[in-house]
Amino acid sequence: MYVVTPGQQKGGVGKTTVTANLAAISGEFGLKVLAVDLDPQSHLTLSFGQQARKGYSLGDLLNSQVNPTPTFDEVVIRDVAPGVDLLPGDERALELAENDIDNDKIGGLLRLRTLLESVGERYQLCFIDTPPKIEGLGVVAMVASDGIVIVSEPQTLSFASTKVYAAKVAQVANSPLNPNLRILGVLLNKVVEGEESQFITGLLRESGLHVFEQSIPASRLASKAAAGGIPAALANRNYGIGKTYRAVADEISDRLTEVLTAPEMAG
Ligand SMILES: Nc1ncnc2c1ncn2[C@@H]1O[C@H](COP(=O)(O)OP(=O)(O)O)[C@@H](O)[C@H]1O
Ligand SMILES: [Mg+2]
Repeated sequence: MYVVTPGQQKGGVGKTTVTANLAAISGEFGLKVLAVDLDPQSHLTLSFGQQARKGYSLGDLLNSQVNPTPTFDEVVIRDVAPGVDLLPGDERALELAENDIDNDKIGGLLRLRTLLESVGERYQLCFIDTPPKIEGLGVVAMVASDGIVIVSEPQTLSFASTKVYAAKVAQVANSPLNPNLRILGVLLNKVVEGEESQFITGLLRESGLHVFEQSIPASRLASKAAAGGIPAALANRNYGIGKTYRAVADEISDRLTEVLTAPEMAG
């Protein structure tokens, strides 16, 4: 199983939307996919029209104080989209888990990784949705991941947080916590064609980051579908937005092959 986190320090850039759509498309491509909701807001869970049963969410799996701990099979919600299983989030449970993880320094940071490794034979791809953080659960996701797709809006403020986030990923990759971690590239979201997006793309490339050719335009269909509990890529299969997400998934998959065959340092 290869684990990807669409991450970013900044909120509202589209991490959850991208995560849901990439998971849904990968499932449609015929892969067995696990989607993991590691953001206390639990919007990934909502994006698939789901809700965790009380006591049976990802937070309960990660919290050593929960006794007895539920099993993965009791928590996972199967077939939330073709080929996709979901580890659902619950706000309170994940906040409690984060406190518990904080109290257990290194061991805490490894918990999600260990959990995912225990089901690594069952899935080919895993996507983790994270809160906009470079500490706490943000690091838990970096430790559990093989590749990071940095989601960014083509704006000056997002460029600044992209650099901060990339630096944190590099720090984790250069530590014993996860030496195999790689940044796959920066995915630009909510793009309105114009000089600013070209300028930011240039800045990102100059700073040594790979920027995916395929970006995602600002589109009302992207938000509307998420609110309806079905990712846009499935709800609007035959429209531009559905085709765009497919092209993004293709490019990430090509980049993955490239990175796996020619290892390089993060960033
Ligand atoms: N390509 C897009 N075009 C327009 N709106 C988008 C796009 N991607 C995401 N959104 C909307 O932007 C808001 C924030 O997206 P979300 O995925 O929740 O971001 P994050 O998880 O990074 O906080 C949501 O209302 C979402 O529907
Ligand atoms: Mg989110």
